[in-house]
Formats: sequence, C-alpha cells, structure tokens
Amino acid sequence: MTAVVHGNATGLTGVRVAEVPAPRPGPGEVVVAVRAAGLNHRDLFLVDGRGADDAPVVLGSDGAGVVAAAGPGAEVAPGTEVVVNPSLDWDEPGDVPEVPAILGVPTDGTFAEYVVVPAKNVAPKPAHLGWTEAAALPLAALTAYRALFTRGGLRPGEHVLLPGIGSGVATFALAMAKAAGATVSVTSRSPEKCRRALELGADRAIGSAEDWRGALGKPVDLVIDSVGSATFGRCLSVLRPGGRLVSLGATTGAAVTLSLREMFFRQISLLGTSMGSAREFGRMLDLVTEHRIRPVVHRTFPLEDGPRALAELASGDQFGKLVLTP
Ligand SMILES: NC(=O)c1ccc[n+]([C@@H]2O[C@H](COP(=O)([O-])OP(=O)(O)OC[C@H]3O[C@@H](n4cnc5c(N)ncnc54)[C@H](OP(=O)(O)O)[C@@H]3O)[C@@H](O)[C@H]2O)c1
Repeated sequence: MTAVVHGNATGLTGVRVAEVPAPRPGPGEVVVAVRAAGLNHRDLFLVDGRGADDAPVVLGSDGAGVVAAAGPGAEVAPGTEVVVNPSLDWDEPGDVPEVPAILGVPTDGTFAEYVVVPAKNVAPKPAHLGWTEAAALPLAALTAYRALFTRGGLRPGEHVLLPGIGSGVATFALAMAKAAGATVSVTSRSPEKCRRALELGADRAIGSAEDWRGALGKPVDLVIDSVGSATFGRCLSVLRPGGRLVSLGATTGAAVTLSLREMFFRQISLLGTSMGSAREFGRMLDLVTEHRIRPVVHRTFPLEDGPRALAELASGDQFGKLVLTP
C-alpha cells in the first residue's frame, strides 16, 4: 500500500511517500481502509524528534474510513464507517496517563491506505460529516473537549477566552463552547483569522497585540491556552477572581513567570490537560452530532502530496485543518 513514512533522518527531510506492506488485524484489532487522514502539529514535533537511526514509520494520528477486516474477538463489522480515536490505552477520564500513548509513531499511523488499530479505538462516523471533516476531528476535538468540559468545567453563560484562534484545537473549542451556551472571545495576530472566527460564531475577536482587558470588556471565567509564554501573563490578568486557566500547549515557549500572589490572592485555578480518554471521545462525538458541529478544513491534499501538506502545516498560515485523502 502507499503511505507517508518518516525514517533515517531528522525533520521534514526524512518524510517520503513509499510502498509498504498492508497491515493485518491481530486479536481485538481492526484494519481501517483510510478515506481521509488529518494532520496535526504532533506530526511535525515527532519528525523533528527522530534521528538517523530511527526506522521508517507511517505518520499520522487522525483518520476516518471503512472497517476492511476484523481480527479474532473484534466486534466491529467490516463495512462500518468509522472515525479513529488516536488516544491508545486510556479508557476513563480520571485515569490520567503519565504520557498519553497516541497512534502514529512509534506505531504505524493513518497516513496510508490502511491502518490497524484496537477495535475499541474506532467509533461510528457522525452521519452529518463528510470523510475529510470526520478525519479532521479526532485529536484536536478530543483535546478541546477535555480542556473545556472535564478540566475547565465550563458552564452555560460563562465567558471563555481562546488565545490564538488559528490553532486546530481552538477552532474546535470555539464551536463546542458556543454549543454549550458560553460567550466566546478569541485573539489572533491575523485580522483575517479574527474575521473568520466571528463568522464561525465568536462573540468577540481581538488582535493579539491589543489591550486585551480593554477590548474584552468583561472578565473571563475560563481561558483555554496553547500559545504559552507569549501571552500567558495576559491570560492570567484577564481572568476574574476564582477563574480557571487550562493549559494544553506551549507553541511560543513553555517557560513563564508567574506571580504566586496573583494566583493565590485572586484564587486562580491553573489546570493542565492533554488528549483525552475513550469515554471523552464518545462524549465529544455525541456533542458534535447533537449540535451538528463541522470541523473547519483549510485544505485537502492527495496522500501522495503528504510531504507538501506537512510543509504547509509548518508554515502556520492555515485556519483549521489540513487533510490527506488516499
Ligand atoms: N496537549 C495536547 O493533547 C495537545 C493536542 C493538540 C495540540 N496541542 C498543542 O496545542 C497547540 C496548538 O496546536 P496547533 O497545531 O493547533 O497550533 P499552532 O500552529 O501550534 O499555533 C497555535 C496558535 O498560537 C498562536 N501564536 C503562535 N505564535 C504566537 C505569538 N508569537 N504570539 C501570539 N500568538 C501566537 C497562533 O494564533 P494566530 O495565528 O491566530 O495568532 C497559532 O495559530 C500546540 O502547542 C500543540 O502542541 C496539544
């Protein structure tokens, strides 16, 4: 089968399209014929962390497709249309793993014609979504769901701030927070991304360099942050006393200065999150289905253009997700 693999190098220079053996299902596993596979920044971080001695591996964590074969004990019928949950070996929200195990490096991932996964890691594709939309969903939407609801405890009527709305997780968080009845403010360095966010239902979109406090008008109950050091101080300063900040990424750097006085006097909750459990994946799909949430797909590429798609992801110009179609 054709696949996008990485090996024997560091970074994007090690990415190539290759013919590799198609996988077979073991006990409790299914093989999914991939109809579409979504890209994530994780794919870039991983190739940057691999070296000359690392064996070739098929990239990709997100996918949607049709079950082509089921191994012994796998109770999913061939022909079922599914989305793949890339969070491996994590069933319940409270059983937080040391580091979440994620499909795609070290095991073979979704940027291929076929992928093998545990049967418990596939779920029926929401009927209102096309293949590219469904493939854009799993990793980022699961992360956004856990950040907003399990960790952030979002309640209807609260004011949520999403810094850096260009991120895939943030665009899902926008749709889900609106579906949950929140007021949503976003920031972006790009006026165009601000405009797109307002089109998608954001109540307020402000420039990253603006005075956030003045522009926001009212204090924030919950911040979902993945930008990191560039804006962390301002995220804290706009929270109401007793507000919550959920951190899930550090795009601009992980080291921040924090005033413990500001935190304890104003009784701020700082919460970390990463990926999510199978239970949350199911709840996320229920929310997406109930509110007919549609992922924002920026662009699709044929599988053979995988290296070009990854280079476009690295450029950071997209609003929403990039998707490969075998
Ligand atoms: N923990 C998890 O499970 C998990 C899962 C998924 C993603 N993540 C993390 O979430 C983050 C988001 O990933 P992503 O791929 O969706 O987006 P990304 O490309 O890493 O960027 C996120 C956003 O940060 C903003 N930004 C970047 N540089 C900035 C700067 N100097 N000043 C202000 N804002 C800046 C940009 O927003 P604008 O362009 O709108 O300004 C950008 O769209 C990453 O750090 C990723 O590792 C974590």
